[in-house]
Amino acid sequence: MQDDGGSIRAFDGELEVPADKSISHRALMMASMAEGTSRLEHLLNSRDVRSTLDCVRELGAQVDVTRMDDMSFDALVTGWGRRGPRTPDIPLNCGNSGTTTRLLLGMLAGYDIEATLEGDSSLKRRPMRRVVKPLTQMGARFTKDGVPWDGEEVTLPLTVHGTSSLRAIEYDSPTASGQVKGSLLLAGLNAEGTTVLSEPYLSRNHTELMLPAFGAEVEANTLRYTVSIKGGQQLRACDVFVPGDPSSAMFIAVAAALVPGSDVTIHNLCLNPTRTAGLDVAMRMGCDIEMEETAVIGGEPIGDVRIWYAPALEGVHVQAAEIPALIDEIPVLALLATSAGDTTVFEGVQELRVKESNRLASVVSGLTALGCTAREVGDDLVIEGGVPEEDETLDPHGDHRLAMTWVLANRCFGLEGDVADTACIDVSYPSFIEQLDELQGL
Ligand code: S3P
Repeated sequence: MQDDGGSIRAFDGELEVPADKSISHRALMMASMAEGTSRLEHLLNSRDVRSTLDCVRELGAQVDVTRMDDMSFDALVTGWGRRGPRTPDIPLNCGNSGTTTRLLLGMLAGYDIEATLEGDSSLKRRPMRRVVKPLTQMGARFTKDGVPWDGEEVTLPLTVHGTSSLRAIEYDSPTASGQVKGSLLLAGLNAEGTTVLSEPYLSRNHTELMLPAFGAEVEANTLRYTVSIKGGQQLRACDVFVPGDPSSAMFIAVAAALVPGSDVTIHNLCLNPTRTAGLDVAMRMGCDIEMEETAVIGGEPIGDVRIWYAPALEGVHVQAAEIPALIDEIPVLALLATSAGDTTVFEGVQELRVKESNRLASVVSGLTALGCTAREVGDDLVIEGGVPEEDETLDPHGDHRLAMTWVLANRCFGLEGDVADTACIDVSYPSFIEQLDELQGL
């Protein structure tokens, strides 16, 4: 997208990015478990969140959508409360959404019902043992095609046989994962005793922030990376407002940082520190970013972020402990890193291999195809300075965050390349291309 003089059009203006995906899933699920009617405002209107919506409806929650536009919707959700969910007539289709799947498995583990979860071809490749193992220790059972789980890695379709006599466990999770934590906390609500989870680093903490709003007591120790929840707590309806998604915002921030003359302000963004490490890394690289917190709603800090073109970027070393708080931003941060004068290392990013696609392999092959120097070194991702120069058709492998990264690579470096599939962007950020167009005055 070049102007008449042949230079790339700057990104300029103010906007709100779509609502946070993680918070939207959790709001719909907790409201479904609650007694009474919750008012959920500004939920993300994207394919993943609609998967959760369809699943909770199938399980007996009453969801009345009271407003909807291209980016967000509001809903009144009357939960199943003490009655519990109903056994679904059909398999629950989780679409492309790992969060829907793993949180639902935990939520359903504590009720006397059976439900089969299925998903699209990407989701059917993703590992579920990380939640199946602790939930089995708590007393739930899992079968695949009628065969009991054998302790090995397992994928969808998968049937959860829940039980109202779930037992609390103390679980030391080998992965820092907001989905594993969310799954065990939702299961722990209906277990006997206190469920305790510890993780190697702090993962996103939206579940433990939202549960108190629904009336549940949770203890979180953010220094020791542990959370605990007492069983036998019935959620009660409440109101939730969902702020903008920092992972979506990162794409806009990188666009602004890469193109001369850019100046963008993003309003009403979730500034939860377990989600904003991507912005911190961008600042360490030399990006000019201003953040201003304007409110705290439901425990989530919310505010505005302004970002300008960054003429001189430096490579940085991102440590493994920082990765959970920027895991979804790595593809686009890798693109930003190509503009740095030296090497950037993302340490310990093995989790990228089991996202919507193998993001580690795809980032390396995509950047290489564009003429950059990127490689996997063990579990690290290494990017040398040297910006995209080749016009290439890149395949995002049905992965929304890769599709957006490759769209930006073309836009920000004035390339004529193509992205083989942009429909998958609807999973998290349906208005992405239009918002880029608007900021570039197209
Ligand atoms: C999410 C947690 C992260 C993230 C995903 C959403 C969540 O996954 O990558 O997009 O909402 O809990 P992991 O829990 O696997 O780290």
